[in-house]
Amino acid sequence: MTTPSAAVVGWPLKHSLSPRMFRLFSREAREPVHYKALAVRPEEFDGVLKEAAGGAWIGWNVTLPHKVRAMELMDALDSTAREIGAVNVVRFADGRSEGFNTDAAGFLAPLKRKRFSIAGRRVVVLGAGGAARAVCAAVTREKAGDLRILNRTAEKARALAKAVGAAAAPWTREEILAAVGGADLVVNTTSLGMEGDTNPLPAGARFKPGALAYDLVYRPRVTPFLQEASQGGAEALGGLGMLVAQAAETWRIWFGKTLPVDALDQVEADLKEIL
Ligand code: ATR
Repeated sequence: MTTPSAAVVGWPLKHSLSPRMFRLFSREAREPVHYKALAVRPEEFDGVLKEAAGGAWIGWNVTLPHKVRAMELMDALDSTAREIGAVNVVRFADGRSEGFNTDAAGFLAPLKRKRFSIAGRRVVVLGAGGAARAVCAAVTREKAGDLRILNRTAEKARALAKAVGAAAAPWTREEILAAVGGADLVVNTTSLGMEGDTNPLPAGARFKPGALAYDLVYRPRVTPFLQEASQGGAEALGGLGMLVAQAAETWRIWFGKTLPVDALDQVEADLKEIL
């Protein structure tokens, strides 16, 4: 049997952790796979996808800027991809392409492992981009008691809040401090903290006792958001667990196999060494 091929497809593709991560998955699962990084320009995406469907690919991880276009081009879509409006995993089979979205499942997995239940809790989401959309879909599905979205561009916060039946609040120091202070779970979905000392949390933010601060950013491992949140009394959760959980979900979609928890822990530990 020929070794199946898989790839992360995006543009530009700088510093993608996926090839290294899926090599670790391949090792843990004892399942050979050729995993590549495929830099595809937006204007070439349709053609490359069309050709791929008839080829030796098992699947793709789709990243920016192709997630919405990929959805439009799929032969079939799972319900989560349709709900979120974006595809980040493609499975190729029998000349057809099927689109999935693992963002919501990946976001929830580390919370479930911590036995943090969203039901009835007050949740604050910082940011209103693609990642926020998936987080809000997950939070709504888990029946949060209250969901508040704050974003620098107010119109995007309002549109997302309307779509998921949540509240939007302005991106001001006072509003952020007030929202954070009343929340059980605060999620940073903005890109702040990836580079340099940028932070969506104003200095001196105070959290409720037992509150959880969850940053989707995984590099650096301790972001300025998590640092500030810890100082303000919250428990900190970084984005690496979500990244690994999403890859595990991808693996299940491609190979139909669920990897054991200790294999995932091993991958996460190895990635920590790399980051
Ligand atoms: P993703 O798909 O990862 O969510 P995105 O759709 O580009 O990426 O969203 C990035 C998020 O980070 C947005 O909520 C963005 O706010 P705007 O909607 O106002 O652009 C937020 N963000 C990025 N840079 C920011 C900054 N300097 N201050 C505040 N928010 C920022």
